Amino acid sequence: MRDANPGTIYLKDYQAPNYLINRTELHFVLGEEETLVTSRLHLLRNTENGDSSELILDGQDLELVEIYLDGDVLDPSCYEVGEATLVLRDLPEQCLLSCVTRIRPQLNTSLEGLYRSQTMFCTQCEAEGFRKITYYLDRPDVMSVFTVTIDADADRYPVLLSNGNLEETSPLANGLTRVLWHDPFPKPSYLFALVAGDLEHIEDSFTTCSGREVALRIYVEEKDIDKCDHAMDSLKRSMRWDEEVFGREYDLDIFNVVAVDDFNMGAMENKSLNIFNTSCVLCDPNTTTDVGYQRVEAIVAHEYFHNWSGNRVTCRDWFQLSLKEGFTVFRDAEFSSDMGSRTVKRVEDVTLLRSAQFAEDAGPMAHPVRPESYIEINNFYTLTVYEKGAEVVRMIHTLLGPQAFRAGSDLYFARHDGQAVTCEDFVLAMEEASGVDLGQFRNWYSQAGTPRLTVTDAWNEEAGSYALTISQSCPATPGQDDKKPFVIPVAMGLLGDAGNLRLQLQGEAPDPDTEDNTHMVLMVDKPEQTFVFEGLPEKPVPSLLRGFSAPVRLEFDYSRNDLCRLMSGDDDGFVRWDSAQSLAVSVITEVQAQLLAGDEAQVDPLFLEACGALLQDDALDPAMLAEMLSLPSENYLAELAGEGAADVQGIYRARTAVLAAVGSHCREALEQRYAQLAVEANYAATGEQIAARSLRAVCLNYLAAAGASGLALANAQFAAADNITERLAALRVLSQFGSRSDWEAPMAKFYEDWGHETLAVNQWLAVQASMPDDGAIARVRHLMEHPDFDLRNPNKVRSLVGTFAGQNPLNFHREDGSGYRLLRQVVAELNSINPQIASRLLAPLTKWRYYQGRAEQMRSELELLASMDGLSPDVFEVVSKSLK
Ligand code: BES
Ligand code: ZN
Repeated sequence: MRDANPGTIYLKDYQAPNYLINRTELHFVLGEEETLVTSRLHLLRNTENGDSSELILDGQDLELVEIYLDGDVLDPSCYEVGEATLVLRDLPEQCLLSCVTRIRPQLNTSLEGLYRSQTMFCTQCEAEGFRKITYYLDRPDVMSVFTVTIDADADRYPVLLSNGNLEETSPLANGLTRVLWHDPFPKPSYLFALVAGDLEHIEDSFTTCSGREVALRIYVEEKDIDKCDHAMDSLKRSMRWDEEVFGREYDLDIFNVVAVDDFNMGAMENKSLNIFNTSCVLCDPNTTTDVGYQRVEAIVAHEYFHNWSGNRVTCRDWFQLSLKEGFTVFRDAEFSSDMGSRTVKRVEDVTLLRSAQFAEDAGPMAHPVRPESYIEINNFYTLTVYEKGAEVVRMIHTLLGPQAFRAGSDLYFARHDGQAVTCEDFVLAMEEASGVDLGQFRNWYSQAGTPRLTVTDAWNEEAGSYALTISQSCPATPGQDDKKPFVIPVAMGLLGDAGNLRLQLQGEAPDPDTEDNTHMVLMVDKPEQTFVFEGLPEKPVPSLLRGFSAPVRLEFDYSRNDLCRLMSGDDDGFVRWDSAQSLAVSVITEVQAQLLAGDEAQVDPLFLEACGALLQDDALDPAMLAEMLSLPSENYLAELAGEGAADVQGIYRARTAVLAAVGSHCREALEQRYAQLAVEANYAATGEQIAARSLRAVCLNYLAAAGASGLALANAQFAAADNITERLAALRVLSQFGSRSDWEAPMAKFYEDWGHETLAVNQWLAVQASMPDDGAIARVRHLMEHPDFDLRNPNKVRSLVGTFAGQNPLNFHREDGSGYRLLRQVVAELNSINPQIASRLLAPLTKWRYYQGRAEQMRSELELLASMDGLSPDVFEVVSKSLK
């Protein structure tokens, strides 16, 4: 592939727009066959950027019907309609450009722009969907005040929504209604939204800190009206929290949320009209798992928080995406931590980061938090931009401390309110408010790859001193061979026999403020550094990277005994969990080698005892215990194996053998915990109940891995459950460890009982997609023919095909290549239906370098895709970059 691909967009080429659009008036006539969109753009030449009179508007899949300049029909010689543009020449400095375009939302399967979901019309404009509605400067640095009128059939579409305030409703002839919405806040086109449908809503209100009353409404199909309360409560909690923790008040009198079934992402923060995937807003004990309830709370918060971090202050260009997404993920993570258990939330986030973001950062699509180029921006809504971006903000928080960080955030919002800005502007505000120099820290924004920290220690018995030598390196990533050192905050402590030791760094005055100085943050900013601690009574065990203070791979040669000590005795919950994980990794790896050599699995008794001790520890939060007892995922183990070394079968066998060994060794304790933790009360998504159910599920998993008694318990749990969390946990266990006779009946029963609930069916599909048995691929193909499956619905595709490719390594990586073939065929078909989903689904194939003996087969499927006619830019970019 040529390097300067014609479709590549570069950050270095950024230019301010040469016209501004001060006001945007849109008029929609929604019809069953076609929709007419009339735009009136109040244009003003941007004199800051030269004085070109040429204007290039973006437009895709549009039919231009009429065009006027200042009220007169525009002469065809003055404009040119291209494949994706409308070019206008010799425009005056100030003018009114009006276009009528015809679009066909009912045929729009890309779910970008204006489209239909079930019986409603809805929009999705981020990142570049607005250009599928009308010709526009579809870029985030063009901010405009929008006024929108909508004409639609009053019976079919009694609810007509857009951004801002509803100013007028009037009946028209022919059974149509017209509404007028006005949004006083200037916004980029990606935040525009429109919804039309026959919807019900629930309503509540929120009084802001300055005493304004905001009407809160959640719109859904009538059948789902009972599933909105949890989202409403979450919204009110988010609004209060953002006032208290970030000083951010809501700014309009209305806040609307709409749920739609067909949606590419989870949810979207359109100004005052958030649109949600039904899976991310509806909650009901029979359709939503505990994890689902928590996810809804987090996503409602996330989209709400964007009202400031994203909407009031937006991105100059899409290279700055992490400015709003990384910061907002940090904000929603802090919110979730405050609502529940901070440590458990941290463990969940780190698990995702390490098992998926690290792999992305080590693969062919690796890019910095602020990318420098892209072909298709939709491919850059990545774990790196989101999760690593949030880690970068978290490190700034660590470096500045909570007060200076808050001052930086206040300064950022005050200084840039109403502007479209860059990651650099964010960092500058943080620097100015705190006085902390973040010069070298900026490497986190510009350099891709996961840094590796190698730590060695030296104990000097006579001097009572202990030295930690820390060196950092970062592997090459596409286009970046040599990396400059990062600034890496390493939060740490030292563990002695009787607990945490006092920390005194050589050459530094003792800290007079703290008596009990057992925690500190080391600043690692050079390729290699040594930190010497003095006055120690014994050789300590270092507790490193507490709270996962930086997104790095840490290497320290812990003995299994060290890990056990940290696991039971460290002050930091994250380190306790992480030590349990490291211990499990080392035990599983050992078993994998034994099995490979044809020996029997011998699980280190130390590990079995440690698990037993954890199960007896009544002081530990059950949610935390569940995390500590959860073995690392197959995906994480594959990632740790490294390029060319992941043996999925070996990993699966070893992991299953360790599960079974713990299950038999700890059987009594597991059964006891399982029985004790049974929730007698009616289902509620409270922290306490959720913790109990999650630990029970972990116990059940071990017991079932060890044999029949666990399967019997699972059967009983399935029959007795009053909620989908326990039903699915039982089904999962039966279908992972049982034989056909164990899972067949409950699987059918689940569908019989809940087949009318789309969201429940999706999870039923996912359970079947992740089964390890030999029938898995035939089953997935068969389910693709099921009447409830629909390739045009992203939730279905993700549940069935996404789960298969991402969560069923054993079958996806089958030796005969049938798993790869299945994915390639689905991607090929989706390429023309929904390129965004096709491209996201493809990710597991791009990891071909990891899997032992599979590279050729995986590559050849990618090559087949590459040679396809009509390849979308989305799929083209991923395929061509992964084949390089
Ligand atoms: N702005 C995004 C939604 C989006 C992403 C729209 C890409 C179009 C293209 C939204 O704020 C978001 O980030 N949603 C996440 C959930 C969130 C909790 C991380 C999502 O949809 O997955
Ligand atoms: Zn977001």
